Amino acid sequence: MNPIAEELNGIIQDGNPQVYDMLSSVGKNLFFPKGILSQSAEAKGKAHKFNATIGMATEKGDTMFLPSVMAMLNDISPAEALTYAPSFGIMPLREAWKEEMVRKNPSLAGKDISLPVTCNAITHCLSVVSDMWVDPGDVIILPDKMWGNYNLIFGVRKGAVIKNYTFFDPEGGFNMKAFKSLVEKEAEERDKIIVLLNFPNNPTGYTISSQEADGIADILQNIAKGGTHVVAFTDDAYFGLFYEETAATESIFTRLMDRDPNLLAVKLDGATKENFVWGLRVGFVTYGCPVSGESRPFYDALERKTAGAVRGSISNASHLSQELVLKSLQSKEYLSEKEEKFEIMKGRALEVKAVLSDPKYAKAWDVYPFNSGYFMCLKLKTVDAEALRVHLLDQYGVGLIALGKTDLRVAFSCLEKGDTRELFDTVLKGVEDLTSS
Ligand SMILES: Cc1ncc(COP(=O)(O)O)c(C=O)c1O
Repeated sequence: MNPIAEELNGIIQDGNPQVYDMLSSVGKNLFFPKGILSQSAEAKGKAHKFNATIGMATEKGDTMFLPSVMAMLNDISPAEALTYAPSFGIMPLREAWKEEMVRKNPSLAGKDISLPVTCNAITHCLSVVSDMWVDPGDVIILPDKMWGNYNLIFGVRKGAVIKNYTFFDPEGGFNMKAFKSLVEKEAEERDKIIVLLNFPNNPTGYTISSQEADGIADILQNIAKGGTHVVAFTDDAYFGLFYEETAATESIFTRLMDRDPNLLAVKLDGATKENFVWGLRVGFVTYGCPVSGESRPFYDALERKTAGAVRGSISNASHLSQELVLKSLQSKEYLSEKEEKFEIMKGRALEVKAVLSDPKYAKAWDVYPFNSGYFMCLKLKTVDAEALRVHLLDQYGVGLIALGKTDLRVAFSCLEKGDTRELFDTVLKGVEDLTSS
């Protein structure tokens, strides 16, 4: 093992030995290399005559650039736009994102968490934490309504085993019973369980209530107390888009991060969906758990390993994207701009609810509960979801997503409010075409 990895492992063991045990074998071996990066960081401070350390190019002491590139970028310098960012992410953005996280989750105020490490959006955050915490054969507990890409990230690429519980209780809301019994069963059979919690949920658009969040946290705390290591990933991709009072407005990360030394909370979030900058690819990994003694060295060690996973996969996330997200966060208009877009999304979600309350649709589908996010799902009663999807596309030019045999996902995030009724009437017509033929 590399001596730097050993040193980081020692620091993690001092701060929380259970968390050390939770690291995957890759995670135990990960470190942030000194090599070129630290030599060039050292040179930045001291090499006042010639600094020929890093694989970028300069002219007269400034970043070299093609004018045709920079002509498209106002108010941003070549150094901000074109140079490599640190593998950890640029520090002002990491700090600003953390501050935002506390503003959006007030119960984090004064609590000890890591600094966020920047990744190439949440998909990459998931791969990075998969490297850090998941070994081949580990079990990941997920609901049956889940984002399909978890299969590729954890199942195919990592060789983990995904086990599903039924997301919705037939009586309504989150299926606490199914979650509890799967978590307890898996905990009996192994030393470590990994749970992935995603609210607002893709594909259903459901966010748990505060009581449900307490229930989930209690269950995981009990498992942790019983001696099984618990790693809880919270995928907060659609965070903040909560349209009804039923939805808990703080991430479940806040309820998990200081419950038990044997429970590690790992928050994955990003600007992609929240700030409507999908292609900029900026996401963050943040850790929270009880730490004995000084927490900073402990979190610093976790951040270094995480940045090592970034370094070893994509090297660093786009500097230009990070600067754009940072400057937007710092803008005076940021909060009012976000509020304006939030209201548009909320208006659409509530319109979907209003339209779907029409009893004429009841023969064709049930509506899964939704109160947040970008999506909602129909549960079809009479036709196959894929057959309907293809028919709607071919016959009416309407594109929706079929999931399994019965579910049809509608991204109301892409639907103008005024088009809502026409869309669902078209879906109903599609169902009628298929059932009458
Ligand atoms: C639940 C969930 N997590 C993560 C992602 C990926 O987000 P990003 O674009 O930030 O990689 C998506 C995107 O569809 C998603 O639905």
